[in-house]
Amino acid sequence: MVERVKTGIPGFDEIVYGGIPKRNVVLLSGGPGTGKTIFGQQYLWNGLQMGEPGVYVALEEHPVQVRINMRQFGWDIRSYEQQGYFAIVDAFTGGIGEAAKREKYVVRDPTDVGELIDVLKAAIRDVGAMRVVIDSVSTLYLTKPSVARSVVLLLKRVLSGLGTTSILISQVSVTERGFGGPGVEHAADGIVRLDLNEFNGELMRSIIVWKMRGTKHSMKRHPFEITDKGIIIYHNKVLRIRGASVVFEQI
Ligand SMILES: Nc1ncnc2c1ncn2[C@@H]1O[C@H](COP(=O)(O)OP(=O)(O)O)[C@@H](O)[C@H]1O
Ligand SMILES: [Mg+2]
Repeated sequence: MVERVKTGIPGFDEIVYGGIPKRNVVLLSGGPGTGKTIFGQQYLWNGLQMGEPGVYVALEEHPVQVRINMRQFGWDIRSYEQQGYFAIVDAFTGGIGEAAKREKYVVRDPTDVGELIDVLKAAIRDVGAMRVVIDSVSTLYLTKPSVARSVVLLLKRVLSGLGTTSILISQVSVTERGFGGPGVEHAADGIVRLDLNEFNGELMRSIIVWKMRGTKHSMKRHPFEITDKGIIIYHNKVLRIRGASVVFEQI
């Protein structure tokens, strides 16, 4: 029987038949505003509630802002950080600024993947992390798309090797159909895509699991919502696109 990690995100564990298989490295891709960051933070917060320590690698936002954003969903991570169950790796500030001086895990040169991995390993060991989120891996290869696949493979070796079950957030542009960066989807154990589409003057959110090594998963596009408490996926509904309109069907 495959060991699984429950995301605790309403509806998600249902569509992957009980949770993400342990040690999988899942690529979470989507355009801007599709809910990738919230998904990743909710996964880590729920882990803490289940006694599973975690690490969040902040490449696109100041760690101070990450704490503020999470608190808005009721996910106050400060006491977990103080007690050593949770860590933010600051790969955003480069150690510049007063607030950055208070961060424990700082990557001086965020373009240096080797340094990032060293700091990440230290954070994982210190807190005994079982879950890791990197937000986003795209930042690591924006200027050199040719290294995308090797960066993801390197991260996968480290993360899976240390026994963590991880989410690598991958940015795609609004109209792009893929998963971000050449070949990254082949390196990942799982691929989940979040979408935001306009139909009849309204934006609709949906999620699809494209690949999940080690388990069956739903092959349907499910609608989801973002609320004040985070993401809610309607695992028993499917979003179908009919011409210019969209229908929700109970399944
Ligand atoms: N409290 C909330 N209630 C409903 N929707 C929210 C709330 N907070 C944020 N959002 C939605 O989440 C989006 C941002 O999600 P985020 O995870 O940061 O996106 P991404 O990381 O994919 O760019 C916002 O554009 C907004 O639509
Ligand atoms: Mg984001």
